Amino acid sequence: MTKSIKLNEFDGCSTRLRFMIEAAREPQRYTTTAILLHWLSALAVLGLLMLGWYMADLPLSPQRLKLFNWHKWAGVSVLGLTLMRLLWRWTHRPPALPAELVGQTQAWQLRLARATHVTMYGLLLLVPLIGWAYSSASGFSVVLFGVLPLPDLLPKDQALAQWVKPWHAVGAYSLCALIALHLAAALKHQFVGKDGLMRRMWPADPARRVAQEPLS
Ligand code: HEM
Repeated sequence: MTKSIKLNEFDGCSTRLRFMIEAAREPQRYTTTAILLHWLSALAVLGLLMLGWYMADLPLSPQRLKLFNWHKWAGVSVLGLTLMRLLWRWTHRPPALPAELVGQTQAWQLRLARATHVTMYGLLLLVPLIGWAYSSASGFSVVLFGVLPLPDLLPKDQALAQWVKPWHAVGAYSLCALIALHLAAALKHQFVGKDGLMRRMWPADPARRVAQEPLS
């Protein structure tokens, strides 16, 4: 009588080989969607910071009103992009840090990187929400792209608006400082550590292209 045995996929593999198979299955890069959302929001936030800084001191004019509207539309879009990013991240596991890199990095550096990422996500939600709340309290409801009226987050109240306003600026400039820290860390990995970490978030992976080219 033949006995049928269901083999485990790892049966017969040494522990080392098993580790290598599992490591090869780990995603090495962020998904195309995660990369697209990351660079879209990076561009939008940099534009928003520059526009916000420029427009805040403009004298009352049609130009100022137009720029304020563009700023609000782009800001609400960043809020939407951030919600999409968080949903995507929650449903698609990001690539783990390479084991050698974890081994070479101090625990406080890993904690700082994690705290920076979490705080950036928090500010990417809070800064647009506070801007939207400020706009509502000032009596200017947001009409997204001039066609979609959004609900007011606060009742019209000038005193409340003046209280909320500086928090939008504090949040925005704190986000700017964290982006600078995040960029400095990415550049350090790229040019000092030369560990290829940045490739995981780069739109095209040069290493993969070389590997796919025919050898002839
Ligand atoms: C990630 C998103 C956003 C960023 C990074 C950002 C950034 C900024 C910055 C840097 C300023 C100038 C602050 C100052 O120097 O006083 C500003 C001002 C402003 N923002 Fe935003 N903003 C964002 C989203 C929004 C949203 C969604 C709204 C409203 C719907 C909004 C409404 C405003 C308004 C009305 C001002 C002018 C404040 C004033 O001078 O009266 N912002 N923003």
